[in-house]
This record gives sequence, structure tokens and C-alpha cells, in this order.
Amino acid sequence: MSRFNAWGIFADSSPLMTDLKPQSDVVVSIDDVHKHYHLDDETIRAVDGVSASVARGEFLAVMGHSGSGKTTLMHLVGGLDLPDRGRIRVDGREINSMSDTERTLYRRRHLGIVFQAFNLLPTLSALENVMLPYLVDGRSSAESRARAKEVLEAVQLGHRLKHRPALMSGGEQQRVAIARALMVEPVLILADEPTGNLDPSSSKQIWDLLRSLCETAQTTVIMVTHEAGAAAHADRVLFLKSGRLSGEAQSEGAGDAQLVADRYAQLAN
Ligand SMILES: Nc1ncnc2c1ncn2[C@@H]1O[C@H](COP(=O)(O)OP(=O)(O)OP(=O)(O)O)[C@@H](O)[C@H]1O
Ligand SMILES: [Mg+2]
Repeated sequence: MSRFNAWGIFADSSPLMTDLKPQSDVVVSIDDVHKHYHLDDETIRAVDGVSASVARGEFLAVMGHSGSGKTTLMHLVGGLDLPDRGRIRVDGREINSMSDTERTLYRRRHLGIVFQAFNLLPTLSALENVMLPYLVDGRSSAESRARAKEVLEAVQLGHRLKHRPALMSGGEQQRVAIARALMVEPVLILADEPTGNLDPSSSKQIWDLLRSLCETAQTTVIMVTHEAGAAAHADRVLFLKSGRLSGEAQSEGAGDAQLVADRYAQLAN
């Protein structure tokens, strides 16, 4: 039986559920992290002394103006880049002290990364795109296909398996990208403006899907967004300003976009 229900993800009490530690576990710990870029004689303090922690099953939004360091921070947490200073632990592993190969394998096997541009391969079907993380990891095509079907059904795309990206709507393409991220049952999903290219109704589907992953599978999600309406779906919002944390708001998924917008206006400007 599939472990997934329609949107709920992980419907039954699979071994994954029973293995989980209490929700108060810290999954992401960011400790005084700095990332500066040097161009000619200018120093750009993209991330400038950020400390934060994110709990298992928490849905965290990160807001800030363009250039405030959101993507840089996500790349550091995802091990796509290394900090100049400071420490980042993800699920108990210090990712900045891993070798390049260890970090690549860790990212591939434990993290789900979703971008604004869906980054699907245009010549492959939805099913083939989603199979890729397993195939790259050396799993058989039969196993990859079975698992890919399962996660595509979980994001309600069981009827689009053979479609290439160009034949799908933006919202469907982003759900394929999320399905691909779910292949490895990630402990952490990093989503950088995942609804930046989507209309309001497709966006809401994505936020609800991310939220259901946190609630039902205890996945931790960090989502970068410019939209208060998006951040209001998260449990908590961190505000970044010029590479530093300027404050936070508890949203608790209550959908209070006005509250988030007011805090954003106070803290990011
Ligand atoms: N590789 C790089 N070399 C030099 N400067 C960089 C590099 N990457 C980012 N920056 C600079 O660091 C700052 C933070 O960039 P970042 O991409 O993290 O911002 P952001 O908050 O994600 O912005 P946006 O909302 O526009 O995506 C910006 O001033 C950017 O120009
Ligand atoms: Mg960015």
C-alpha cells in the first residue's frame, strides 16, 4: 500500500513515522554564519553573521528585499556553497566540514531542493524527471519507476506521468519538481521562491503541499518568499536585511498575511 494519501503524504504509520524523534528536535542549526564576496575593491556582505535554528517538522519562511542574502543563505544551508565563517549543522551533521563528495552525497540523499525555475529536463517525461535522483544514486529502473509513481501520485499528478514539462502548467511543473525532491524522503526541503512563477491558485496548492509535508511527514521546510501571503502559510517567518536577521514573526500557518506584511514593513525596511 502506498504510504501516501492524496495531499496528506505518508498516510499510514510507516517505519519512517515511528523512527521520528520528537518534534522539538533541531534539524537545522546555523551558528554565526558569514559569506562575503569580494569584487574588485568592494566587499559584499551577502550573509553577515546569521544564527538561527529550525525544528523538525517546522515550516519556516524567509523574507527580505532583493539582495538581502536569502538565496546565499539557502545555498549555504543546502551545502551548495561554503561559509567563510560559522557553522551549519543539518540533522546532526556539520555540512561545512564534509568533503565535497560527502556533501554532494548528503545533499542527494537527505535534502530536497526546489527552485523558482522548476529545473526540469525538457526532453524527459514527468515520471522520468522524478526518477532521476534514484537513477543517479544507482538504483534500478524498476525501483526508480515505482517510487516516482508513488510520489507523483502524492502530489496529485498520477494522471500526468507521461507529460513532458512543456505540456504541463506551471503549477504542475512545480509539483513535479517537489515530487522529485520527495524521492529520497528528505529531512529538509529548501524552496527558493517556489511560487515566484505561479498564479495565486497554483501557489496556494504548493504552500498547502509544503505545509502538509511538515505536518504529516515531519519534514522541515525552509521557503524563501517575497510574498506575505506565502509566508503566512509558514509557522514562523525570519526577516533578512543586508545579510543580517532583522527579526521574526510567528505566523503558525494561520494565514494572516496582513500580520506578516506589517512585520515585514517594520523589519525589512
Ligand atoms: N557569486 C557572487 N558574487 C558576488 N556577489 C554575489 C554573488 N552571489 C550573490 N552576490 C551578492 O550578494 C547579495 C545577496 O544575494 P542573494 O542572491 O543572496 O540575494 P536574495 O536575497 O536572494 O535576492 P533576490 O530576492 O533578488 O533573489 C547581493 O548583493 C548579490 O549581488
Ligand atoms: Mg534570491
